[in-house]
Amino acid sequence: MTRAIYPGSFDPVTNGHLDVIKRSAKIVDELIVGVLNNNLKSPLFNVDNRVKMLNEVVADIPNVKVMAFDGLLVDFAHQVDAQVIIRGLRAVTDFEYELQMSQTNMVLDDNIETLFLSTKLEYAYLNSSTVKEVASHGGDISRFVPDVVAKQIINKIEELKENKNE
Ligand code: PNS
Repeated sequence: MTRAIYPGSFDPVTNGHLDVIKRSAKIVDELIVGVLNNNLKSPLFNVDNRVKMLNEVVADIPNVKVMAFDGLLVDFAHQVDAQVIIRGLRAVTDFEYELQMSQTNMVLDDNIETLFLSTKLEYAYLNSSTVKEVASHGGDISRFVPDVVAKQIINKIEELKENKNE
């Protein structure tokens, strides 16, 4: 049985992430979406909310499970007994960082392989940061993220603006 991890910050999950999840779930027996609980970054959504949104959008894919993790990815892979790490590659700009990360993980544990899925052309430009930026200026994000996620982003941005004005 092949169990893989698709790790990321997912702040928040985009249609590009969801596409990689769906395609990966077809090629492995079990896919764990690993949501990094990263104290160094200040995410828009806390890890529980990111996990919740992911759970909503993967609810109809039976072999996908969403879990938060702290620390090293290879340690998380050991914990859940995963042999494969999946990452999406959008463009050449992703390549250097992704190569470094996969090679670091390979040095840490050479029994764990990283597999890259190339992003579909329609999502090649997409990332969580630009979605948040567009939303913060009132732009239309309906083509970037699932509806449930778009609602959460808009609410969160409203909430932040209200708190700022208080
Ligand atoms: O979506 P992101 O932010 O590009 O995902 C990055 C992620 C979570 C895959 C990466 O930061 C990670 O694996 N962090 C855990 C710490 C770790 O294992 N670092 C060593 C590999 S460089």
